[in-house]
Amino acid sequence: MGVVTINDLTFTHEGSETGPSLVDINLDIERGEFVSIIGANGAGKTSLCNAIRGFIPHLFKGELTGEVRIDGQPVTEESFPELARQVGFVFQNPFTQMTGTTTTVYDELAYGLGNLGVPRDEMRRRVDAMVDMAHLEPLVERHPFQLSGGQQQRVALASILVMGQPILVIDEPTSQLDPKSTDDIFELIENMKDRGITIVLVEHKMEHVARYSDRVILMDDARIVAEGTPAEVFNDPRTEALGTRLPQPLFVARALRERGLPVTGRELTLEELVEHLRAGAINGKEGR
Ligand SMILES: Nc1ncnc2c1ncn2[C@@H]1O[C@H](COP(=O)(O)OP(=O)(O)OP(=O)(O)O)[C@@H](O)[C@H]1O
Ligand SMILES: [Mg+2]
Repeated sequence: MGVVTINDLTFTHEGSETGPSLVDINLDIERGEFVSIIGANGAGKTSLCNAIRGFIPHLFKGELTGEVRIDGQPVTEESFPELARQVGFVFQNPFTQMTGTTTTVYDELAYGLGNLGVPRDEMRRRVDAMVDMAHLEPLVERHPFQLSGGQQQRVALASILVMGQPILVIDEPTSQLDPKSTDDIFELIENMKDRGITIVLVEHKMEHVARYSDRVILMDDARIVAEGTPAEVFNDPRTEALGTRLPQPLFVARALRERGLPVTGRELTLEELVEHLRAGAINGKEGR
């Protein structure tokens, strides 16, 4: 059994005029897995995150059937503090994440650890390590509300990662970030995966989704409509039909394939393409 299991989950927000936000969701996420959720605006991605974190049904009221379990335990039977120890949650809007009670970025990162009762020495060690990993040195003395949107987003993510929960639910962490900062954030998230942390990510930057995910889940109209490896989902015609922008290397792969070059036409990264072209070139020579 996975670390997150969702069985026949259907949820309608109270007073919703658009119908259910989640319909017949079944999902089993393994410990250490990196799962990305993609889909158009309003598809239900944030709602699914909220269900995993227990915000649905604890905070967002409505009609719910089915269940979500974390480590086998239904979220409805766990208190918020219990859930918060297991699942770190990074909100879609970083402003929402800020505690609003600290005056420096450094304290913002330390805040959650203080609440957990982490001893001062260890707290300092963990915050320093996170400042380093997230490249936040130039910002540590700044006021959290006097940062740019992108800087806030990096701080919001770091303030969760520093807590070290075994499951991370991260809703669009790079929406306000430039390409360099986006790459940095993905490196940071990959680093968490390397430590065995389970990651559920909502993201619109498909090159990154393709590169880092073990599994991709495509949502449309409150349902999961496709799921599989990045190669499976991005080569599924439904993905493009639903308006998802495919990773650029896939177009190159298709064009090369059409021209008879030794690629599968399904490659999602440049590295994969180069590898296949090189292997093909070597095999080609041997064949002659
Ligand atoms: N608090 C709420 N009350 C009523 N309906 C809601 C609420 N939150 C979301 N919804 C509805 O649920 C559906 C799914 O919304 P959700 O926020 O999960 O989409 P999303 O895939 O995260 O979209 P986006 O890419 O824009 O963030 C939408 O139809 C939305 O209007
Ligand atoms: Mg959303």
